[in-house]
Amino acid sequence: MSDGTHQLKQAVAQAAMDHIESWLTPDAVIGVGTGSTADLFIDCLCQKRHLFQAAVASSERTANRLREGGVTVVELNDIERMPVYVDGADEINGSLEMIKGGGGALTREKIVASVAERFVCIVDASKRVDCLGQFPLPIEVLPMAVGAIKRFAVSIGGQPAIRDGVVTDNGNPIIDVSGLSINDPVGLETALNQLPGVVTNGIFAIRKADIALVASAEGVLTLT
Ligand code: A5P
Repeated sequence: MSDGTHQLKQAVAQAAMDHIESWLTPDAVIGVGTGSTADLFIDCLCQKRHLFQAAVASSERTANRLREGGVTVVELNDIERMPVYVDGADEINGSLEMIKGGGGALTREKIVASVAERFVCIVDASKRVDCLGQFPLPIEVLPMAVGAIKRFAVSIGGQPAIRDGVVTDNGNPIIDVSGLSINDPVGLETALNQLPGVVTNGIFAIRKADIALVASAEGVLTLT
């Protein structure tokens, strides 16, 4: 990562912290995403750990970083409400639909995001696209379904590849599908959800972001 990109990620992480601070209460449990941008947000969140109760992590990596920063990590099953989930993305379009899963945590990210009252997406401006699909679409699958899902990907014009050496926190492989132009994100997310053996696909359109904070050299833009 270049120094410039790191600075943008740092700026957007701090902007997210400022944005959500008024939603922190002594009993609040915050949802936290995974990735290099989320890592920087975690560092900001740890500085404010006295303002909220605990966090739910979207990966083991995130859980470890939160604990190292002194934040209590709880299980999603142990809470009833979550005021906000903050996470990065690999691509985001003008409707705040996203591709996620470049870091392999898409399944837990989608589950945690699904229960949050607000989804705040934090990205640098390089992640903004008109049409999703330039970033290869990650799909977590059960091992015996790999061949069938790869054939489906080819049937819709994609080029599937197993992510080498990667096993998710849930013990599954990921197929990355390149070459797609995703003109109907909700439709493709829904279609992939129907395929036996698909655990999660990386289109976040059915539950998209409510707010996107986008960092560029000009500052941090808020999109809703
Ligand atoms: C993790 O599985 C992903 O969904 C990340 O949110 C995404 O890859 C963004 O990562 P960076 O913040 O490292 O770009």
